[in-house]
Amino acid sequence: MTARAAAEPMLGANSCDTHTLRSTVDSVLDWRYGASNSRLSSLTLKAHEQAWRANDLDWSLDVDLAHRVRGIAHPLAPSAYYNALLRPPMALDDDEAVALATNMIAFMLSQFLHGEQGALLASARVVQAVPTVDAKLYASTQVADEARHVEVYSRYLEEKLEITYPVHPSLRHLIDDILGAGPWDLTVLGMQIIVEGLALAAFNLMHSIAPAEPLIEQITERVARDESRHVAFGVLLLGRAYTSQMTPQEVHLREDFAIHAIHSLHERLLMTPVLERLGYSGDAWHAWVRDNAFMRALRQLLLAKIAPALRSIGLLTPKVSDALKAHQPGLDDLERATDAAWLPREFLGSLRPLLALRRSARRAVHDPSKRG
Ligand SMILES: [Fe+2]
Ligand SMILES: [Fe+2]
Repeated sequence: MTARAAAEPMLGANSCDTHTLRSTVDSVLDWRYGASNSRLSSLTLKAHEQAWRANDLDWSLDVDLAHRVRGIAHPLAPSAYYNALLRPPMALDDDEAVALATNMIAFMLSQFLHGEQGALLASARVVQAVPTVDAKLYASTQVADEARHVEVYSRYLEEKLEITYPVHPSLRHLIDDILGAGPWDLTVLGMQIIVEGLALAAFNLMHSIAPAEPLIEQITERVARDESRHVAFGVLLLGRAYTSQMTPQEVHLREDFAIHAIHSLHERLLMTPVLERLGYSGDAWHAWVRDNAFMRALRQLLLAKIAPALRSIGLLTPKVSDALKAHQPGLDDLERATDAAWLPREFLGSLRPLLALRRSARRAVHDPSKRG
């Protein structure tokens, strides 16, 4: 799974700005042209029907993320809210709390953007290497989808948030491995099942925890609809091939690839670069980024959502399940954790101090005699 990567400048680009990966891709032509799978054809039809353009979104909307982040805390002060939710090693003042929350959101969105570029190249690779024309036709719709995703996220980050983060090293290495992998099914496994499975879970989660900002909601809703089709395509392509047509050695290779991908995504979910940018260093902060209950619960929630797609392709083997659980000890019952309504125990526990604070703040708003 080693990809040969070299930093090599392209025409007109600085070598620091681009990343060149050398890999060999089989180019497979299929002269039969017939549809091999009716579900694949209807997925392609759906992709055409659901196609949208970046200009369909209302780019005139004013996005003041810091204002939104303060709004979530209301009626609490941002410092009270985020200190109770995130329990940082030192109490943050209002400005520090707002800076931490906005940077966490910008970091997540930046990694979505970089993942989208990886998906753009991976889907182009699938067009080339997948052995049937109907799968190539679907994959070509995905190339257009991913290009649009890159366009909207880069525009949102640059024009609206004005805070961007470079690609996290773990995500970049994972993209290298996905694009450098030999067999095309590893590209599909890494990108469509694992990276996009996690992205889809993150989009859904953003609906419930991120500030209700209309432009990002428009983006998230459209991108999530596309990504759920992409995950369905991955599941359809790989199907039960992993259990019925492969030798044990071939299955082991896929298991190891999946485990490596899960590990890389877990690392990038840690958000360490946010701390570095804000100047929070030292052992206490490094321990916090791994151990704080709210963020751990979010990681559990996201990683759990990869499991159903892995199960559908027959790859939620004991070895892969153990890897998921090892990263997140709270995922002891993976079967239950894949239920849409499941929340980690830790998640509710991490919210308890915050909920108590908000209740008393609300009471104080309604009954001024209770203001302390
Ligand atoms: Fe995408
Ligand atoms: Fe996608």
